[in-house]
Amino acid sequence: MSAVEKMIRVDHAGEYGAARIYAGQLAVLGKGKHAATLEHMKAQEQRHLDTFSALITSRRVRPTALLPFWHLAGFALGAATAALGPRAAMACTVAVEEAIDAHYAAQEAELDEDEAPLRATIAEFRAEELEHRDIGLANGAEQMPGYRILREVIKAGCRVAIRLSEEI
Ligand SMILES: [Fe+2]
Ligand SMILES: [Fe+2]
Repeated sequence: MSAVEKMIRVDHAGEYGAARIYAGQLAVLGKGKHAATLEHMKAQEQRHLDTFSALITSRRVRPTALLPFWHLAGFALGAATAALGPRAAMACTVAVEEAIDAHYAAQEAELDEDEAPLRATIAEFRAEELEHRDIGLANGAEQMPGYRILREVIKAGCRVAIRLSEEI
């Protein structure tokens, strides 16, 4: 599998997981004051996912075998943090989106001119992930008790998820 194919596989997995995280948050906070904000972010993740799903098909990349696990783990992470309260949900968003930002930035740096369209797609999505991070920060993420440790734990988990989805 080429480096670019690995990128498509892992990005597809990540966007899949991201959509599930926001679904989990909405399952808990769907009637709260952040519902519209969460719906907005989930809709953007769905568009990211649809784009990578199309690339998986057009480039004949096998998706990660871990999708069923990310289906459960993403939702569980979103729901569990939301159950701790809106600020914890936002702290989760900050952590995840920071990890994805770093991941996408590395891919942008690695892609050459012959993959300019993919690079542009990743750059566009990365800008939206940073918007999500900023939404989390604007909605009290840092005021959550235990913010720093939760953020580091979730970021570490994201990095593991990225490595696994590239390889498996
Ligand atoms: Fe995304
Ligand atoms: Fe995002």
